[in-house]
Amino acid sequence: MNNRQARLFAIGSTAFAAILFLGMTLDSHRQFPTLTNAENITEEVIHGKDVWHKYNCINCHTLFGEGAYYAPDLTKITKHRGEAYLHAYMRDPSKFYDENKHRRLMPKQDLSEKEIVDLVTFLDWVSNVDNQGWPPRPILVTGGISAAATPIGGNSASDTYANNASDTDPIALGERLFSSAVPTCMACHSLTPGADGAGPSLAGIVTRTQALLESDGYQGAATDVNAYLHESIVQPSAHIVPGDMYSAAGTSFMPTGYADSLTDEQVDQLVAFLATLK
Ligand code: HEC
Ligand code: HEC
Repeated sequence: MNNRQARLFAIGSTAFAAILFLGMTLDSHRQFPTLTNAENITEEVIHGKDVWHKYNCINCHTLFGEGAYYAPDLTKITKHRGEAYLHAYMRDPSKFYDENKHRRLMPKQDLSEKEIVDLVTFLDWVSNVDNQGWPPRPILVTGGISAAATPIGGNSASDTYANNASDTDPIALGERLFSSAVPTCMACHSLTPGADGAGPSLAGIVTRTQALLESDGYQGAATDVNAYLHESIVQPSAHIVPGDMYSAAGTSFMPTGYADSLTDEQVDQLVAFLATLK
């Protein structure tokens, strides 16, 4: 190659790369309205975003992996925690975590009710943006349970066993559902004794339930362990595990949608799996 050819080659390849880059940028912008569900950007969503900035949530948290890494990423938070939980959490985060146990705490910020509702609406809009799998893993709060959390539709170690199990064993199918139900049970429940998350650890649930059913403290309609487990999934508020971080005003923070999103057969499979946790 002589000098002239080299120069032409450099100019040509730079121009080619620039055109390619421009084209891809334009193409991304063309797709933004669909990827971000632009039609769902209501006034509440916009106000919620202002609240997010006003209180500097980004100084500690990330959205789409951007922000500070002191506290969990909140991109998919509304997919892992119901509205009731998030509203109560924003009113007073200190009720949910223990400074000694968790080391880091979220400050109480005295948001108004309108700010809280719109903020959660904004976070829910964020959670529906097609972020093409980024960030790759939801980073959830709190010691023991964060390791167990599985991305929606993702895999975990315990899942692998269940995925390889036969397609007819209800216990194996139930174990698989425990991580694949939407929202995943694992976002809130661990199977490790004492590792409570947004919901109680389900280790030893059978033994605990036997004692509960014999006591006066039980408020629901079940008469045996399986019926209790069934009731806990489809009607979480029938009996509520005591604790400020699990319910407010007689309503459990566990999502109520499983009665509709799971078939009766799937609920039975989950019950079969939970009934092995003696
Ligand atoms: C000074 C840092 C800080 C600021 C500012 C902050 N947070 Fe947090 N937040 C945290 C920490 C730390 C946690 C995790 C708590 C734990 O693990 O004990 C957390 C947890 C959360 C959770 C998750 C609760 C759960 O159980 O999964 C939500 C939701 C949340 N914050 C929302 C917000 C919003 C919205 C704002 C702005 C209005 C905000 N945070 C501002 C530090 C902060
Ligand atoms: C957003 C968090 C959250 C998710 C997701 C969730 N739960 Fe819960 N769950 C809770 C909370 C909070 C409680 C305690 C309050 C109550 O009794 O309802 C609870 C209670 C329970 C109990 C009773 C526990 C006890 O000690 O008596 C069972 C069983 C249970 N959940 C099963 C499930 C299953 C199965 C799934 C998935 C299909 C699931 N949960 C998903 C939050 C959650």
